[in-house]
Amino acid sequence: MKIAILGYGTIGSGVAEVLKNNSDVVAMNAGEKVEVKYVLDLRDFPGDPVENILTHDYEEIQNDEEVGLIVETMGGVHPAYEFVKAALEKGRSVCSSNKELVAVYGAELIQIAKAHNTNFFFEASVGGGIPIIRPLIQCITADKIERINGILNGTTNFILTKMAEDGEDFDVALKTAQDLGYAEKDPTADVEGYDACRKIAILASLACKKQVNYEDIYTEGITKITATDFLYAKKMGFAIKIFGTAVMKDGKVYAMVAPQMISTANSLFSVNGVFNGISVTGNMLGDVMFYGAGAGKLPTASAVVSDVVEAVSKKNTHVSVAWDPTPLTLSSMDEMENRFFFRVGDEEKDQAVKMFESAEVIDAGVTGEKGILTGPVKEKDAKENFEKLSSLRGRIRVQD
Ligand code: HSE
Repeated sequence: MKIAILGYGTIGSGVAEVLKNNSDVVAMNAGEKVEVKYVLDLRDFPGDPVENILTHDYEEIQNDEEVGLIVETMGGVHPAYEFVKAALEKGRSVCSSNKELVAVYGAELIQIAKAHNTNFFFEASVGGGIPIIRPLIQCITADKIERINGILNGTTNFILTKMAEDGEDFDVALKTAQDLGYAEKDPTADVEGYDACRKIAILASLACKKQVNYEDIYTEGITKITATDFLYAKKMGFAIKIFGTAVMKDGKVYAMVAPQMISTANSLFSVNGVFNGISVTGNMLGDVMFYGAGAGKLPTASAVVSDVVEAVSKKNTHVSVAWDPTPLTLSSMDEMENRFFFRVGDEEKDQAVKMFESAEVIDAGVTGEKGILTGPVKEKDAKENFEKLSSLRGRIRVQD
């Protein structure tokens, strides 16, 4: 099988490395040898072995009849979409790590793949090296999926772990993440939750088998979490994580990305550092958890190459993926019930406790304020109550 890699960045070069280092096991599992015939990139790579197979022109790949499979590791929606579509229409398999592309066009590209008896696979688009897409599509098929909870972004999990362990403020932990190469220079996509939002949109779509548009998902990042919030979390024995959550309940679907305080009872409590963890609840299965490296060159490339193996071994057979492009209407977050933790000035403590059912006061020894832990409350009612509290200092949802 001759393949082309579109995009020779971290993941694309990782794919070349995995294919080279593990050529024997890949050939054994795929049923034939896999050879990289082209690498497409705008840049030149003088001295890199890839130099001899580098092209700047996608048409060269598109017109070469020998190429049977495309690996898309360019990122971004355009021109990735146009290249992938053209490849599928030519009957080629495509394996992509591109969550932006999959979140927006995944359902459509699967339909195009089906029409041309080929496959569009995207294991690496969520959870990096963690197998989660194929388990959802091919393994958890006897269940109605009721909930997906995921720590889906390694950068923010690293920052929150640093804040918890070293008592650092957000800015300091972010700087460490940047120095270590986890967070990008412009960290917005990670810290504002946009990256996790695309990923939970993909997982929710696969769980519901319909298009969940990422623009419809309520998304809150971690920039407002402070070292003081962690003092209270520690006092209560809680961790603070940012979750992508999808809940399928009584015919309704809720989805959000938001920081959550969680107790030790939560299976994701110990997912720390740059690791990702995803908990899936099926109505027969109960909870299953997926854990591992959610980012990074070789783990993510390993997931892409696992798609290559699947695509080569299933060549000329479309693997069915239930994902209807019709958009699903998410239920309003206003009706969702959540527990909250928040902080208020001492002067409003009594008023705040009376506003929420089963509320308890948490004293973490912080001068001039107290924490309040509420029972379950509708988002709409919580929002109204928070607006009445002029000394409100933080507000984080709580999951057991
Ligand atoms: N920036 C992402 C993360 C990379 O930190 O998880 C993987 O999608």
